[in-house]
Amino acid sequence: MTDLYKERAESYDSEDCAEELSAAIGAMMLSKIPFHNQMHVMDFGAGTGLICSHVVPVVQKITAVDISESMLDKLKAKPEFHSKVDTVCRDIINNPIDEKFDMIMSTFAMHHVEDTNKLIQSFAEHLETGSLIALVDVDTEDGSFHAEDSQGVFHCGFDRDALKAILEMNSFKNIGFVATHHFKWDGKEYSAFLVLASKG
Ligand SMILES: C[S@@+](CC[C@H](N)C(=O)[O-])C[C@H]1O[C@@H](n2cnc3c(N)ncnc32)[C@H](O)[C@@H]1O
Repeated sequence: MTDLYKERAESYDSEDCAEELSAAIGAMMLSKIPFHNQMHVMDFGAGTGLICSHVVPVVQKITAVDISESMLDKLKAKPEFHSKVDTVCRDIINNPIDEKFDMIMSTFAMHHVEDTNKLIQSFAEHLETGSLIALVDVDTEDGSFHAEDSQGVFHCGFDRDALKAILEMNSFKNIGFVATHHFKWDGKEYSAFLVLASKG
């Protein structure tokens, strides 16, 4: 599989607004998600670990999943993760992890996966009944969030009702869009949702 983040990984953490945006998303998640110190959390599309860094102090363990070896290499190089974060570089839709998690979180990664239904189905397969998913992504946008020639971008954000229907189809319950973060990226305004749901 081609590593689409090979070049970007080097500068990802220092991109304009990356730190500010991940701090705001991290704070939003900490204020709305009932994390606790016994939880083993999967971070799907964890990248360099910008969001893991906010969550790792309040959980037992994070498994950072990504298909980009170079993004995970950056994560692995951060000393604060050494004792509590492990990494899995694979496509979990076609090659699931033989383990169930107490929660799956994901930020700005779902729009990189073509088949959202298969992805949510895979999340369900990696969770115990009653366990939570916490998904952050961009609300429907006009395509300007990524450069025109970007590879691996399959969705111009998400329509909340359509995503809710996919979650329902995969037996998720208590679906709630519990927070919205408005932000500027390359001078344009976007909003990101946080949706929580429990596996039925
Ligand atoms: C925009 S970055 C977000 C990284 C991180 N979650 C954050 O908020 O900083 C998207 C990440 O999703 C990863 N990704 C894309 N498709 C994926 C897939 N099918 N499985 C796992 N990770 C994927 C990319 O490699 C990249 O690291």
